[in-house]
Amino acid sequence: MNWDDTAPPADDTTGRLVGSAADGEDQAVEAALRPKSLAEFVGQERVREQLDLVLRAARQRGATADHVLLSGAPGLGKTTLSMIIAAEMEAPIRITSGPAIQHAGDLAAILSSLQEGEVLFLDEIHRMSRPAEEMLYMAMEDFRVDVIVGKGPGATAIPLELPPFTLVGATTRAGLLPPPLRDRFGFTAHMEFYEPAELERVIHRSADLLDVTIDTAGAAEIAGRSRGTPRIANRLLRRVRDYAQVKADGRINQEIAGAALRVYEVDARGLDRLDRAVLEALLKLFGGGPVGLSTLSVAVGEERETVEEVAEPFLVREGLLARTPRGRVATPAAWAHLGLTAPQSHGTGGSGQGDLFGA
Ligand SMILES: Nc1ncnc2c1ncn2[C@@H]1O[C@H](COP(=O)(O)OP(=O)(O)OP(=O)(O)O)[C@@H](O)[C@H]1O
Ligand SMILES: [Mg+2]
Repeated sequence: MNWDDTAPPADDTTGRLVGSAADGEDQAVEAALRPKSLAEFVGQERVREQLDLVLRAARQRGATADHVLLSGAPGLGKTTLSMIIAAEMEAPIRITSGPAIQHAGDLAAILSSLQEGEVLFLDEIHRMSRPAEEMLYMAMEDFRVDVIVGKGPGATAIPLELPPFTLVGATTRAGLLPPPLRDRFGFTAHMEFYEPAELERVIHRSADLLDVTIDTAGAAEIAGRSRGTPRIANRLLRRVRDYAQVKADGRINQEIAGAALRVYEVDARGLDRLDRAVLEALLKLFGGGPVGLSTLSVAVGEERETVEEVAEPFLVREGLLARTPRGRVATPAAWAHLGLTAPQSHGTGGSGQGDLFGA
């Protein structure tokens, strides 16, 4: 993948119903839906258990918790967890982000104003500038920074002691973090996509908070289309609520949820119009591939980047599409999902329909 290491993934900018980045409405309502304690935080059992130990032990010692790195795709709960860490430690939290810290001086100003035990949440930590990063190494390890005063040969470094604090870094791109930075975190939590049953719990919880009545099958219907992501689950719930309110009595069941999401063109697996257009072109125009990204993009009428960064990652994750050196190839599951029959011989040739379906 040719990720540019400063630009956010294209998914951030499209405002799709199933996009995983937060849009304006999400930001407005997310604060209200955020779990406030580890006990309320749904799923991520392993991470929760480990984090609970880290925080409990620190509390028992009366010490500041170790630095924590949270890595995972957008919308899985990194910001939420950072606030929970502060709440569990009964510590204040300061929130900033990598892109906001362009100069080491910006970071020095923040660090030197921290209170003892405070949690510093550094979102998108992989987008911090290099000089700031180097200052952070020393601050994390020795609770000290060198403030450079003056320029050129006359510049001097004035050491500044910092109170102990807990850095909570969040990143969607852990691979981009330089190893010296990664190594300075005492605990790293890798957040996984959520199981449908976990998303159902997220949906029931949010429905309660939003004062929406939803039954088990209705929640399951939404959960299955939420791409393993609580943020998307919450967003779909709000759209289904609108539909239920306008077209029915406001209560959500499976039928209402299904009908609403048909209107919004989110299918049973969480694919939206763009995802389906890509798959359909691949299957109907190119017999399942392999076909080059450029050709596929032209066929769909989208930019290469849109197809590659917005549609494909989820299709690959779902096992519907594979990226091969010879081009994009549809999997048997893709044919099945669109209700089409694979041709007798397609793709790299040789494999007939029988083998493809594993029959
Ligand atoms: N485990 C969870 N239980 C309940 N709700 C959750 C959970 N994780 C996330 N959410 C909900 O999903 C929404 C998005 O979570 P959050 O903002 O923490 O994601 P993020 O990982 O920080 O995303 P980004 O990478 O875009 O910053 C929040 O409103 C929160 O209520
Ligand atoms: Mg966040």
